Amino acid sequence: MTEIERMKQRVAIAAAVRVRSGMLVGLGTGSTAAHLVRELGRRLASGELQRVRGVPTSVATATLAREVGIPLVELPADGVDVTIDGMDEVDDRLDCIKGLGGALTREKIVAAASREFVLIGDHGKRVGTLGERTPVPVEVLAFGAERTAARLRGLGAEPRLRLVDGAPKTTDNGHLIVDCHLPPGTPAEAVRAFAAAVDGVPGIVSHGLFLGLTHRVFLAGPDGIEELVAG
Ligand code: A5P
Repeated sequence: MTEIERMKQRVAIAAAVRVRSGMLVGLGTGSTAAHLVRELGRRLASGELQRVRGVPTSVATATLAREVGIPLVELPADGVDVTIDGMDEVDDRLDCIKGLGGALTREKIVAAASREFVLIGDHGKRVGTLGERTPVPVEVLAFGAERTAARLRGLGAEPRLRLVDGAPKTTDNGHLIVDCHLPPGTPAEAVRAFAAAVDGVPGIVSHGLFLGLTHRVFLAGPDGIEELVAG
């Protein structure tokens, strides 16, 4: 296992303490969240945890959760106790960008339905301003996608249709992803304004700016785990 993979595993194990017996847990997507799913499966199998059920945020996570023995349910109307998920960037307000794995819409639905939303990642994902390293993924309907991308360009981003092996990436929901690169040095207020404007564009399913949703972040670094709690 590489050092970065070990850090992802360590941070997932540290965050797993937020899950207690009887809880309904939102299961995130991505390489870091996969360590969390495996750890919950291990704790269930060993009896350290009991009666935990999961709501997966992607087909891939559902497959892994079944493999490790976590019972799965649909997202109920009253939400979940806690969701633990990875992120692509996180700032000092604990706002984040998610969706480089393409699962942003289900992730956002589950995050917004969580009594506690917890992010896990390595310290390299901490940024001064969101968008400084990664684009903002936006899930769009295939119908009218070129027009939707033009609207995103009009909001100041450089939109790029996400491709996999030369073909447009299709999400679990059957939609496309447009990665929106913000101009270097875009200030935090402009990023928030971009998020609000994107919400109003027809044809957009959701975007990867998760603002005001996070309660807690676990970050793995070479010297251990740092825990940040929303003020
Ligand atoms: C999935 O759509 C994403 O939001 C992931 O949670 C995010 O990309 C982090 O993934 P890694 O843990 O693989 O870096």
